[in-house]
Amino acid sequence: MTRVILALETSCDDTCAAVVDDGGRIRANVISSQGIHDAYGGVVPEVASRQHLELLPAVVADALAQAGVRLEDVASVAVTRGPGLVGALLVGLASAKALAAAHELPLTPVDHLHGHVAATSLEPDPLAPPFLCLLASGGHTLLARVEDHGPDWEVLGATLDDAAGEAFDKGARMLGLGFPGGPALSELAAGGDREAFAFPRARKVAGLEFSFAGVKTALLYAIRDLGEAEATRRRADLAASYEEAIVEQLTDRVKRALDTTGLDRLALGGGVAANRRLRERAATLGVRLKVPPPELCTDNAAMIAAAARHLPALPYPDYLALDAYATGARGL
Ligand code: KG4
Ligand code: ZN
Repeated sequence: MTRVILALETSCDDTCAAVVDDGGRIRANVISSQGIHDAYGGVVPEVASRQHLELLPAVVADALAQAGVRLEDVASVAVTRGPGLVGALLVGLASAKALAAAHELPLTPVDHLHGHVAATSLEPDPLAPPFLCLLASGGHTLLARVEDHGPDWEVLGATLDDAAGEAFDKGARMLGLGFPGGPALSELAAGGDREAFAFPRARKVAGLEFSFAGVKTALLYAIRDLGEAEATRRRADLAASYEEAIVEQLTDRVKRALDTTGLDRLALGGGVAANRRLRERAATLGVRLKVPPPELCTDNAAMIAAAARHLPALPYPDYLALDAYATGARGL
């Protein structure tokens, strides 16, 4: 029987468990999104922790059942250690320790961002390094040079203020859409004119850094200047122009990075990589492009197992005192 990794991911508001075999094939990838936060217009950390606690046993059982394996068949357990909401991370970490310790299995702590990068290494059609990776999520936006599947990828540039996903979420909120706003804004944008409003692309930000504060403020002023009735009537145009400005900034920095590094392969990762317009634009850059399916771009545990395949596992009981971290070692 092939050896499998059981992975848990609870860094934010998705309760996730996955089973991945040592060839990088996904046997199960269960994601339970906590709809409860929609009512608050954002993730409430304490609510997220409590929801993880309630959902995780069933999510793990589901993943094992779908994969057709028992805990006894698992070779090692992997878990997100950070960055993220510390209370939410602790639920996953404590659960992973308990599951591993019960069978004296090894445990692999994984960095969430390494997970997003490693999603590109899963079957089918994994992307072989070296490649450039644009990682754009609700919490992070950065460009990475990936030389191998390990944790030592290099950050070439990151956002100076908001993350791209945050810009999508805040824009969606201004347009009266629900949370998380990225998918809803993108859907609304599909029926609008991308050139109706000239929103800033932060072109003056040098090098490979990003900035989304300007486009956010520009949307706020555009809505205010139009007045409520007109802004509502032109919501699709506002959404389309706003999405275009974000996507164009992302692809502009990708082009700069491809030019400066000479890399000829590109991977997209993180929730914003699920964006249709970004995928469309990235496909025109003339390099080999790898975009995982949307459910592997947004938070999931299969990507945590993917990263764990390229990390040393801690033998039982060396991991029992392991702590979570809210912010990563690189300050990300
Ligand atoms: O990677 P992820 O699931 O969680 C974090 O680690 O943050 O990313 C979530 C972010 C949210 O901001 C969400 O609005 C955005 O990804 N997102 C999208 C789309 N799907 C998810 N943004 C734009 N278009 C989408 N289709
Ligand atoms: Zn994420």
